[in-house]
Amino acid sequence: MEFSDKQRQLLGLLADGDFHSGTVLAEQLKVSRAAVWKQLQSFITLGIEVNAIRGKGYRLESSLSFLDAGLINTHLSASLQRQGIDIAIFEQCDSTNRYLMADARQGVASGKVCLAEYQTAGKGRRGRQWVSPFGQNIILSILWRFELGTASIAGLSLAIGVAVIRALKNQGIADVGLKWPNDLVWQARKLGGILIEVSGETGGPCAVVVGLGLNGFLSAKAAEDIQQAWVDLKHITGQSSLDRNRLTAELLNTLFPLLAEFEATPLSTYLHEWRQYDCMLGKTVTVLLHNQKITGIVKGIDDDGLLLLQDTQGRVQAFSSGEISFNTALS
Ligand code: BTN
Repeated sequence: MEFSDKQRQLLGLLADGDFHSGTVLAEQLKVSRAAVWKQLQSFITLGIEVNAIRGKGYRLESSLSFLDAGLINTHLSASLQRQGIDIAIFEQCDSTNRYLMADARQGVASGKVCLAEYQTAGKGRRGRQWVSPFGQNIILSILWRFELGTASIAGLSLAIGVAVIRALKNQGIADVGLKWPNDLVWQARKLGGILIEVSGETGGPCAVVVGLGLNGFLSAKAAEDIQQAWVDLKHITGQSSLDRNRLTAELLNTLFPLLAEFEATPLSTYLHEWRQYDCMLGKTVTVLLHNQKITGIVKGIDDDGLLLLQDTQGRVQAFSSGEISFNTALS
């Protein structure tokens, strides 16, 4: 769905999160009150929550700051500003990862960024859906081309997690940890996730799309479909609004140099830092592997970034894929 001009205008008027009377909104938009109400209803499908209070009017459950390429640019590092980044911003798209994977097939250059206010088919890991209401979260993908083929990017997914933590720390958001391979976690609740998709040959050049979803604000209603414990930046920081343009720029400021240097940097550099943010070390967990479940104690990661798990017989196994779930009954 593309917004009509009136819908866009209405959202702009409500963006401050304050109450606006239906009569005043109708006058400002030069439409009837019923038309205002109808447009507000249309926002519901995008996960935009509107409170209506008799005598006060309408207000958004959470204020909105729209993504803006100009504002993002002002917060980019001097070198990224000089370099210039191709950023596509969508009010709505199916999936920013899917969009850039299609671009990759069309030969689009390395370094293209795609952002969206809303995804109709956001992709999570292991075929799951990524839930994100309109205009509240970070929905970011970057297309990157690597010269040396898929073998050269082993460990990239862990390194990306490190770059995201660096960006959060630079914004004063501390205490966020990593859950292997790269979930962003705060106090055992998921703040964000990373989905890396690759196309190309094992030996030849390959194109990678790095997708990041970070929860800025999720209402309980918006999160109804999320199957695991979650948290958002609004809760962590205690701040009522999140400057997504600034945070997006900070993420690009840490992700771009890391992607540019990755092939020439020993993986140990990133793994060393990753270990400092490991929030699962020593915990009893269950690893889901295809149809198998293995319970054990996390012993960290090995020098290739594989997960080390000690089973009940004391044997340590390394896992290259799978998903860990906290085992609250045992830990
Ligand atoms: C996970 O399941 O933990 C990974 C979630 C990744 C979500 C992001 S949002 C931006 C990009 N576009 C997608 O469709 N998915 C990723």
